[in-house]
Amino acid sequence: MQSEKQEEWVRGYCDVVGDLLQHEKVQQMRQYPHHKPVDTLYHSVYVSFLTYRICASLHWHAREAARAALLHDFYLYNWYVDKHDEGHAWYHPKEALKNAEYYFGPLTPMQRDMILSHMWPLHIAPPRSREGMVLTFADKVGAVRDFLRLSKRFRPVYTRIETEMKRRERLANPC
Ligand SMILES: [Fe+2]
Ligand SMILES: [Fe+2]
Repeated sequence: MQSEKQEEWVRGYCDVVGDLLQHEKVQQMRQYPHHKPVDTLYHSVYVSFLTYRICASLHWHAREAARAALLHDFYLYNWYVDKHDEGHAWYHPKEALKNAEYYFGPLTPMQRDMILSHMWPLHIAPPRSREGMVLTFADKVGAVRDFLRLSKRFRPVYTRIETEMKRRERLANPC
């Protein structure tokens, strides 16, 4: 993680999602468990950072994809406690999209499709974009890592992203 290349990835990632990461509602995702003991923000940053790295390496739409990936689980409730008529697996992508557009304005058609289809193949229709396929892949990798208790390996990168965001906030608000 200490390598200059990794630092470049962190800075590039903060460039494309920094405004979202600073938002209080995105920070609220810390309150909700995802796959215990991982919270939803930690999971979302993992999935988004991986999506960003893959898409940037392939010269695809990395900014658009990383932003959609950060918001793919932006459902803002505790799914272990709060139940809905529809099962969480089918309900939460729609809630995440609704919240994303409520707080951040209209998303692009690709971003909308990425969020709605990220549970594919549980969701019947596959993602329509290659960036959407990357998101579903990254989300499954994250879930497997949670299950295998490997999630903490991302902690140094996560901490570095937090530190970089704090540095940027201090620069923007020096007093
Ligand atoms: Fe999800
Ligand atoms: Fe997810």
